[in-house]
Amino acid sequence: MDRIAITGGARLEGEIPISGAKNSAIKLMAASLLTDEPLRLTNMPRLADTRFLGKLLQRLGAEVVEADGVLGPETTLHTPEIVSAIAPYDLVRQMRASFNVLGPLVARTGQAKVSLPGGCTIGARPVDLHLKALEALGARIDLHEGYVYAQAPRGLVGAEIEFPFISVGATEHALLAAVLASGQTILRNAAREPEIADLAECLTKMGARISGAGTSEIRIEGVSKLNGATHAVIPDRIETGTYALAVATAGGQVRLTGTRHDFISALLDKLEEAGVEVTRHDDGVTITRNGGRLKAVEIETDPYPGFATDLQAQFMALMTLADGESVIRETIFENRFMHAPELARLGADISVQGGEARVRGVEALEGAPVMATDLRASVSLVIAGLAARGDTIVNRVYHLDRGFERLEEKLGACGASVRRLKGDGGEEES
Ligand code: EPZ
Repeated sequence: MDRIAITGGARLEGEIPISGAKNSAIKLMAASLLTDEPLRLTNMPRLADTRFLGKLLQRLGAEVVEADGVLGPETTLHTPEIVSAIAPYDLVRQMRASFNVLGPLVARTGQAKVSLPGGCTIGARPVDLHLKALEALGARIDLHEGYVYAQAPRGLVGAEIEFPFISVGATEHALLAAVLASGQTILRNAAREPEIADLAECLTKMGARISGAGTSEIRIEGVSKLNGATHAVIPDRIETGTYALAVATAGGQVRLTGTRHDFISALLDKLEEAGVEVTRHDDGVTITRNGGRLKAVEIETDPYPGFATDLQAQFMALMTLADGESVIRETIFENRFMHAPELARLGADISVQGGEARVRGVEALEGAPVMATDLRASVSLVIAGLAARGDTIVNRVYHLDRGFERLEEKLGACGASVRRLKGDGGEEES
């Protein structure tokens, strides 16, 4: 298993190009199942998760072609026919977003058998809202031996769905299914994440009729068929925020390009409050951190446009070195502080009680071997390692590869010492 070795202490200077958003790309890839024509996605991130989903889609009948286009990496997905409407346990277990093929499969073929994803390290993550939404759209849902069997032989039918609380995945899933349902669907208390607006924009290019995506009420007029399209994936706001936090923690000045600062307003406001200089541009943002310690500030994670839970671990890394005590409240997932004990191995002073972490800033961190538990937790350890004295080794790097494209290269270009060690033996990759 690969590891990442970081020698801390270098200031970061330069420019980091931001990739397409993982959490948009994987939903857009699932949307390709809704049409028998090709869907061409540009600005595609090349990640373990997108490769993995590509394999699942191939099993279902998709032809998946990756290319380096003029606009960067692109993937064309073409499913003339669904050859299998089954997503087996092995595949869904490895990447829970594979579950999102359920809606498109039922919408297009009238039936699907998709494994329940099960829990994950950050929480139980049930899919009850996804299933209720599909039922409301007329699908018959049966759970049997760990699988969801969904049937709608005469097609899905539009419905009014009010989510009891905000769920990104359930909103996207309902949207993916409702575009081919007959009649009107209204989604109330819908999630407002930029990835949802991106999905709706792509579906609209494919011929869907959607209004209100990006607000809490989405209206969909079902159509009987969708066509192919070309769509550019939006920039990854979590990657943007992560590098912003890396610079804020390690110090230096880096311009993050090809991205949208308005996607991470909640984070940028907090960075400014802590004493980081933020310069917003049309194509991104420059983060500058010079001089003394930052001020401890409090955050609470919330659905968009609130502070993203996917940036909470990285923000905690920043706060480990701030002056004073920071309170961090996690309201989205019940078990998303697994990075706290690992940060403590580097010398951080953190106590966790329920959904609240208290981080008392220390003067310095010291490098140590640490273990990654999930994608965002892993990168928080990399960030802490960049600021720590000496060497930090982050184990279980496969988590990072799921969601950060060319991390070592992007940080290395700004002067960081971040190397991938192949296997457990520690031989270094060139
Ligand atoms: C998406 O997960 C993202 N994943 C997550 O990013 C992100 O943390 C999360 O949204 C919140 O922003 C993808 O887009 C692939 P939710 P999702 O449904 O859709 C509960 C990363 O690191 N819930 O908004 O699964 C759920 O347990 C990942 O890239 C139910 O109870 O999140 C959670 O507590 C991690 N029943 C809350 O709702 C349901 O049916 C919000 O989850 C669905 C969700």
